[in-house]
Amino acid sequence: MSDFKLDPDKEYTLVLVKPDGYRRGLTGKILARIEQKGYAIVALRIVQATDDDLHEHYVEHRGKHFFESMVDFMQSGKLVAAVIEGTRVVEGVRSLVGATNPTEAAPGTIRGDYGRDYDSGQIQNLVHAADSPSSAAREIKVWFPDAC
Ligand code: CMP
Repeated sequence: MSDFKLDPDKEYTLVLVKPDGYRRGLTGKILARIEQKGYAIVALRIVQATDDDLHEHYVEHRGKHFFESMVDFMQSGKLVAAVIEGTRVVEGVRSLVGATNPTEAAPGTIRGDYGRDYDSGQIQNLVHAADSPSSAAREIKVWFPDAC
C-alpha cells in the first residue's frame, strides 16, 4: 500500500476529506489549509469506505441516532484519508476544521468557509479530524494499517 511508517517521536493526526468535499472538488483547498498552517501531509489515500472501516473509525458513535445515516453519507462517494504531522497537530487541525455544524462553524474555518446545511437529514461537514492523540492513533490504524 505505502512505505510510510509512523515515527514514535512525532505527533500525527488523521484527517478525512468526506465524500461531499471530494465530490465538490475541495480536496486540494482543504489540504492546502492544513499545509498553509505549516503541517505536513505524510500519507494520503483515496478510498471507497467499507462498513468495517466506518464502524471502526466511528466506534464511539455506534448506537447513536445518526450513526446509520452518517455511515450511508460516508459511503456516498470516495473520501480522502490523510495522516498529518506536526507539533500539537491534533488540536491545531481541529481548530482549522471548526465546529461540527457547518452553518454554525466560524468563518475562517474549513467548515465555516465551505460548508452549510442542506435539507438532506445528514450533516455534510466536508472534513473529519481526530479529536485526541489516542483517537488519532486508532483512526490512523483504520485507514493506514501498514503505517503502524
Ligand atoms: P466528524 O467530525 O466526522 O465526527 C463525528 C461525526 O458525527 C460528525 O463529524 C458529524 O458528521 C456526525 N454528527 C455528530 N453529531 C451529529 C448529530 N447530532 N446529527 C448528525 N450527525 C452528527
